[in-house]
This record gives sequence, C-alpha cells and structure tokens, in this order.
Amino acid sequence: MLSSVLIAILPILGTSANPVEKRWSHAPDVGATTSDVFPPTGTKVNSDLFPPESIVGYPQGTPTGLEAAAIQTAPVYAYNSDPSSEFPLKNVGTEDGIDESTFDMLRSWGNLSPWYSVPSSYYGLDSASPLAPESCSITQLHLLYRHGARYPTAGALPAQFAASLHNATVNGTWDAWGELDFLNTWTYKLGAELLSPFGRLQNFELGVSYRNSYGYLLNNFTEQGTLPVFRTESQDRMVKTAENFAAGFFGVPEYLDQVNIEIMVEAPGVNDTGAPYDTCTNANVAARGGIGGIVSNAFATTAWNSTVDRLNSQVSGLKFTGNDILAMLQLCAYETNSLGYSAFCKLFTQEDFQQFEYYFDLSFWYNNGFGSPTSAAQGLGLLQEFVARFEQTPLSSYDSTTNSTFDTSSTYFPLNQSIYADATHEVVVADVLAALNLTAVFGETPLDLNKRGEYTFKSSQVVPWATHLTVQVMECSEYQPTKQVRFMVNDAVIPLNYDGCPSDPNGLCAFDTVVSALKNRIDEIDFDYACFGN
Ligand SMILES: *[C@@H]1O[C@H](CO)[C@@H](O)[C@H](O)[C@H]1NC(C)=O
Ligand SMILES: *[C@@H]1O[C@H](CO)[C@@H](O)[C@H](O)[C@H]1NC(C)=O
Ligand SMILES: *[C@@H]1O[C@H](CO)[C@@H](O)[C@H](O)[C@H]1NC(C)=O
Ligand SMILES: *[C@@H]1O[C@H](CO)[C@@H](O)[C@H](O)[C@H]1NC(C)=O
Ligand SMILES: *[C@@H]1O[C@H](CO)[C@@H](O)[C@H](O)[C@H]1NC(C)=O
Ligand SMILES: *[C@@H]1O[C@H](CO)[C@@H](O)[C@H](O)[C@H]1NC(C)=O
Ligand SMILES: *[C@@H]1O[C@H](CO)[C@@H](O)[C@H](O)[C@H]1NC(C)=O
Ligand SMILES: *[C@@H]1O[C@H](CO)[C@@H](O)[C@H](O)[C@H]1NC(C)=O
Repeated sequence: MLSSVLIAILPILGTSANPVEKRWSHAPDVGATTSDVFPPTGTKVNSDLFPPESIVGYPQGTPTGLEAAAIQTAPVYAYNSDPSSEFPLKNVGTEDGIDESTFDMLRSWGNLSPWYSVPSSYYGLDSASPLAPESCSITQLHLLYRHGARYPTAGALPAQFAASLHNATVNGTWDAWGELDFLNTWTYKLGAELLSPFGRLQNFELGVSYRNSYGYLLNNFTEQGTLPVFRTESQDRMVKTAENFAAGFFGVPEYLDQVNIEIMVEAPGVNDTGAPYDTCTNANVAARGGIGGIVSNAFATTAWNSTVDRLNSQVSGLKFTGNDILAMLQLCAYETNSLGYSAFCKLFTQEDFQQFEYYFDLSFWYNNGFGSPTSAAQGLGLLQEFVARFEQTPLSSYDSTTNSTFDTSSTYFPLNQSIYADATHEVVVADVLAALNLTAVFGETPLDLNKRGEYTFKSSQVVPWATHLTVQVMECSEYQPTKQVRFMVNDAVIPLNYDGCPSDPNGLCAFDTVVSALKNRIDEIDFDYACFGN
C-alpha cells in the first residue's frame, strides 16, 4: 500500500521535494460546475417539414390483441434481480477488487440505489411470490411508486465538495496523486433535481412491467367507459416520472390520450398527500437535519476512518474528513446514476459501501421509519386515501395532509378504479409504510447508532430509485372470506400482523380485517401533535 503510494508520488515530485510547487499540475477548472445546453436556443421541431403520423397516414395494421395478465397467468414472475438489470449503468468494481458477481455496490447506496426485487424470504415468507396465489384472481391494483434516479438535490453534499475543491484550485494550493490522480482534471458535471436519463428509463420500465402484469385490469375501465386517473406532484421530476410511467404502461404517444395525469401542487403550505412535509410543520424539524440527520451525520464522522487516512495520504494541501468521504461516495452513486459510471467508486472498499448503506439506513429509519415521531403522521393522508379507495367511500374529514378540493371530487379522486398509480417521493413511501404499521419492513428494534450490527431495515431495499408499494386486492375461492388483500414492497410480499390476520404463507389477510385495522390505525395516529406539537 505505502510503496505503491510512493511510486505514484515520485513522478509528480520530479526534482523538487515540495509537492506544493507542482500546484498547477491540475486543470484550473477542477471542481467547477460545468453544464451544457440542449436544445440550442431558438430551435424547434418543424412539424410542417416533418409531419407527424396523423398527417402522413399509412400506419398499416394495428390490431391490439388481448391485454397481458402475467400476474395471473405466468408460470414464474419476472423479478428485477439480476445485476445486469442495472443496464446501462456500469459497476466499475471496488477498491479491494470485488466485482459485481460477489458484491453489487449499486445495492448499498441507500436511497441512491436503483430498485431491485427483494425476495419475500427476506421478510420471512419463503414461498410467497407476487404472482396471484392458487385460487385467487386479482381484481384491483394500488401502486405507490417513487421517481427514478435524479441528479442531487440543490446544494447537496456533492456540489459542496466540488465547490470547496474549486476554491482550493483557485487558490492553487493542493495536489493529488495515486488513486486520486483523476481529481486533477475532475469537474462537476451534474445538474440538480431533475430525472437522469436512467431515471426516466426506470419509471418507463416500471410502466411496462405493470402493463405486462396487470394490463387486463384496463378492461374494467372499458366496461365503465372511463379513463384512469393517475396522480403525481407538480415538481418537474414528479411530473416526468408519472409521464414516463404512463409512457411505459400505455405507449408513446398513446399515454397522451389514454390516461388523465393529475398534477397536485407541491409547495410549502399546500395540502398534498404526496408531499406531506409541506403541511406537517414538524417534518421539517425532524427530516431536514433532525433526528435521522443528526444520528447519520454523527455516524459519518468516524465511519470511514481508515479510508480517510488512505485518501489523505494521496493529497497535499487538502485534508479530507468523514464528511468528504461521504460526499465522494455520493458522487460515486450520483455520477453512475447520471453519467453511467464514476471514477469515485474505485476509491472505496466493500466495507466502505456497507457503511455507506448503514449511513442511509440510520437516516431513513429515524426520519421516516419507526424511529421518527412524524413519519406515520406524514403517511396518514395517503393511508386515509387508501382506505377511502378500499371502501369506495369519500373521506368524511380533512384533518391531515388531505386536500378537500381533490378528495371530495369523483373527477379528481375517483373511488371505483381497478388500477391506481400514484407517484411520490421515497420519504413518503417510507412514511406510508410507517402509517400502515408494517413492522416487518422496519424491524422491531431501533438501529444501533454507533455501529452496523444485525438489522432488518435496508434503505436500498425500501427507498431506492423507483421503489414501489403494491397492494393487490383479490377474490380467492379457497379462502374464507373470499375477498383478500396483501402488500408488497419491491416485489417482496410483506407478512401482515394486524389483529385478526392469520399467518398466511402468501401474506394474505381478509380484506375487511385489514380495512378495520387500518381504520384503528388512523385513529391511533395523532396528526396534530406529531406535526404541530412541541
Ligand atoms: C468558497 O470560497 C468562497 C469565497 O472565499 C466562500 O464564500 C465559500 O463559502 C467557499 N465555498 C466552499 C464550499 O468552501
Ligand atoms: C484562498 O485562501 C485564502 C487564505 O486562506 C482565503 O482567505 C480565501 O478565501 C481563499 N479563496 C477562496 C476562493 O477560497
Ligand atoms: C389543494 O390543492 C390545490 C391544487 O393542488 C391547491 O391549489 C390548494 O391550495 C390546496 N388546498 C390547500 C388547503 O392546501
Ligand atoms: C475514528 O477517528 C476518530 C478521530 O480520530 C476517533 O475519535 C474515533 O474513535 C475513530 N473511530 C473508529 C470507529 O475507529
Ligand atoms: C388542509 O390541512 C389542514 C391540516 O390538516 C386542514 O385543517 C385543512 O382542513 C385542510 N384543508 C383542506 C382544504 O383540505
Ligand atoms: C365510477 O366513477 C365515475 C366517476 O364518478 C362514474 O362516471 C362511473 O359511472 C362510475 N362507475 C361505476 C361502475 O360506478
Ligand atoms: C371495476 O373495478 C371496480 C373497482 O375494483 C369495481 O368496483 C367494479 O365492480 C369493477 N367492475 C367490473 C365490471 O368488474
Ligand atoms: C401498530 O403496531 C404497534 C406495535 O407493533 C401495535 O402496538 C399497534 O397495536 C399496531 N396498531 C394497529 C392498528 O395494528
């Protein structure tokens, strides 16, 4: 280790013993934010010169065939569990030479991991599968899903790291070699907030897979003579998420006239069940640097001690801290998600990545899981909407993040759909799981604040890009009563332990039993205290 560093230093030192004299060996724009512009300003598609299909005509035949129903008919389920399903992202391997066949680093990036299928056995249901159980026919689907991969949020750690490196560059007082040699020419290429191309693909693919599985439920809309309403929030990435999902589900350009996409305003103070932190005041105390932030940041200060030393031995004029390691791990994840690969990844060992996952696990468990005083309250609005849809009965009160403008309207909040698909953020998916009281997902014991031990809650499995909660309502001739329901998170069937639910190998529980437990749960959650109390 040491000798390889020395060998790497020698050519840089040249005849001088002082690496500082080589300060201009790096490009002057290191760490600078660079961005391109496309489309060129003033350009637009010319539909006179390039007329669309509707003008050109001659479409040839378009018979549609039967709707797919793989969830009912396929002999095996199409899991998203192969590392190659992360195509077109490249896992470049770890610092300690571990390749993706043994350790897939993309699955230890917490909420920055691409979603993958979690086996039901992880939560103890060894023989369960997302396919309809024997004797059951799925009559209704409720899907709550997250946007795909995006650039970092504005001002997040990766941009701060770039800015401080750029400051150091302007001052010309640092140098890097060995494993960090690439930093000498590295610029910050990421945008902020919007979906990356891979993120668009994830939502599109999710749409395709749900059409394959549940396409037959569209026949219900045909019988009613109505189009589905799919909901999302107004933030750009949320609108594009719903559009890409719909494009996958219905096709391009069919999604433009086969589904109503409802955009709910996401802005501070506006009631929107998909963005509950905008009305739940305490969410901002708890989530932005609150409990989860405090415990995960404390963990980060020492989580990568030996890595801090290893990387500091390959720079002069800079001194990295645990927080910088965290920034570089995030850059590995964000650059891979946005640009296809990242030179930062190779700096880190398997152990580093596992610590990275734990950092997120702490943050989410304490901010949006059972360790948070506000998570269930933030999930309450969507829980109330779930129950309203289950019972096909409008909400009777507006005492959470629900919005009476929408929720009283059969146009904006229809109650008789066979398919519901709502897009939201990962924190909200976790909040809803907490509101649903899904103990199996979060584990019963709080996560250890200081070191990674044995624990259930893995953020890369619960809140990754395009994570989704799927609820199947079904008629099962061999069950009593015949109307049953179950919950799945990223294809893992979740065991239900509501009062009156039997332990069922397929994760099923009687529909009425679950609905009445959820109504008790609604009463159990004190929205006013959790969101506005001291
Ligand atoms: C960069 O330098 C400017 C000017 O000294 C300072 O205001 C800013 O906080 C620095 N940013 C970082 C990330 O170090
Ligand atoms: C450069 O270094 C000087 C001295 O430490 C500091 O005052 C100044 O703010 C730095 N400039 C930037 C852009 O960081
Ligand atoms: C309800 O939603 C609409 C549209 O998203 C919004 O304009 C309105 O402010 C919301 N109502 C409340 C009370 O937040
Ligand atoms: C890491 O280093 C810090 C500061 O040197 C020290 O306080 C801490 O105990 C170390 N942590 C571990 C886990 O080695
Ligand atoms: C918005 O949410 C608040 C807080 O729960 C609630 O008091 C109010 O009735 C809601 N407004 C509407 C129009 O739904
Ligand atoms: C479902 O709700 C829509 C909108 O209110 C209505 O037009 C339609 O007739 C309803 N269908 C059934 C079967 O109740
Ligand atoms: C269509 O789906 C809704 C919601 O599940 C249900 O109430 C209705 O009975 C279904 N209609 C038919 C004809 O299956
Ligand atoms: C929610 O979970 C807690 C802890 O397991 C339990 O005490 C409570 O009864 C549950 N609530 C409902 C409505 O099932």
